[in-house]
Amino acid sequence: MDKEQKTNSFYRYMVMITSVFFLIGLVVVPFTTGDDQLFVLFSLLIGYIVVLILMYHMYENYVKPIRAAINVTDELVKGNYNVRTYVKPSGEAQQLSNQLNMLARNLQEMAIQEKMQGSQWKTVINNMESGLMLIDERGYVHLVNRKFLHMFGKQSTNYIGYLYYDVLDDKSIHKVVQETFLYEDKMIGAITLSIKEDKHHIEVVGAPVINDVRELKGTVLVFHDITDLKRVEQMRKDFVANVSHELKTPITSIRGFTETLLDGAMDEEKLRKQFLDIILKESTRIQALVQDLLELSRLEKEEMQLSQKIIKVDDWIPNILTLMEQQANKKSIAFHADIEKGLSIYGDPDRLQQVVLNLLYNAFNYTAEGGEVSLHIQNQQNNIALLVQDNGIGIPAEAKQRIFERFYRVDRARSRNTGGTGLGLAIVKHIVEAHHGTIEVESQLNKGSTFIVKLPKKW
Ligand SMILES: Nc1ncnc2c1ncn2[C@@H]1O[C@H](COP(=O)(O)OP(=O)(O)OP(=O)(O)O)[C@@H](O)[C@H]1O
Ligand SMILES: [Mg+2]
Repeated sequence: MDKEQKTNSFYRYMVMITSVFFLIGLVVVPFTTGDDQLFVLFSLLIGYIVVLILMYHMYENYVKPIRAAINVTDELVKGNYNVRTYVKPSGEAQQLSNQLNMLARNLQEMAIQEKMQGSQWKTVINNMESGLMLIDERGYVHLVNRKFLHMFGKQSTNYIGYLYYDVLDDKSIHKVVQETFLYEDKMIGAITLSIKEDKHHIEVVGAPVINDVRELKGTVLVFHDITDLKRVEQMRKDFVANVSHELKTPITSIRGFTETLLDGAMDEEKLRKQFLDIILKESTRIQALVQDLLELSRLEKEEMQLSQKIIKVDDWIPNILTLMEQQANKKSIAFHADIEKGLSIYGDPDRLQQVVLNLLYNAFNYTAEGGEVSLHIQNQQNNIALLVQDNGIGIPAEAKQRIFERFYRVDRARSRNTGGTGLGLAIVKHIVEAHHGTIEVESQLNKGSTFIVKLPKKW
């Protein structure tokens, strides 16, 4: 009710009272004369004023606050908790208005809290790292979260309100739900999903929802993506298998030749020398393998203590070049280096030397006689780039990413001949990454390869 209406209603009362007094006057005054008439008129006037004052008082203190209260309760019923009523500093209705305002304030706070709690729950559920589905005791889906939809790739309207077995195809999930209902206990299953064309391993955990009086009210299904865990597990298995395999070959060979020597071959000078040479070579291999493994495990445990400093490339490189020239002469491969003058790198000189040497040794090993190997060091905008280039056997496209894995070799037999363990590039990658750099390879089969290491100037 607006202000105008309120004043109007007060005027209505006034008009009513004035008319009543006027009528009384009309009826009573003709029956009186003289002083009596004056007295009656005067009394009527006094009475009229008193009644008006009383009415005004009643109107202000009762009618107006009650009307305002009715308006406020109307708004509260509609759910508008922002309304407040005006509280007069005195008067009978003061308490009513105060209490009403308090009620409105409490309701408003409760509404805000409820809203916040609701949105908090929603935020938590939607931002969980695992998919979630809530199924009631009759099997109807009540809730799915964002991660679930990401995994299964549909809209929530495709699930909510439907029976779980109508909207989930995988029988393993049905089994988890049924067993959770049956045993009223946590149940675990596993499924595979293809998410954006990648295969993902998902662990499905079903947990019963039980209310205060221990009645089963439904099931919560949680979907954990365990693809990375599986990968790590697989890598661990591969690693153990690879190490055993790598060790088995030289050990078998050492044992075989030692037995042959003991069986009488050691009496023949020529055989003795030949077999002992093989035994030495094989044991050197084992030693190299063990050393590389130790090195790698040290790097992976992040024990790699880099002793970093500013490396002046001009002072750091000659050592590497001398070693490489010897290597080049041995295998009659042309080697040349193209190093920009005056460069400096921030890093661990010994570790970075290991990187360059490993890459260069590979380049020599996987390039036939008469080939070419080169080393370039260039200044780029944000990086110092080290390029090791050869025109050797090259790397097939499908192997390009894998060569940085431990033990991965494109051609096992060939690499083993060069004494390789397949750990060199894994170590190189670790060191480069510890320097916050990147390594990549460009290669064409039978044309050659270029390994590019980029080390940031600032990090
Ligand atoms: N420059 C290159 N040209 C062609 N293939 C290469 C080159 N560098 C590496 N590879 C391939 O990548 C594989 C992995 O290299 P990596 O250096 O890790 O192992 P490795 O050379 O076999 O043994 P090592 O641990 O002794 O270095 C090699 O076996 C080889 O097949
Ligand atoms: Mg190597």
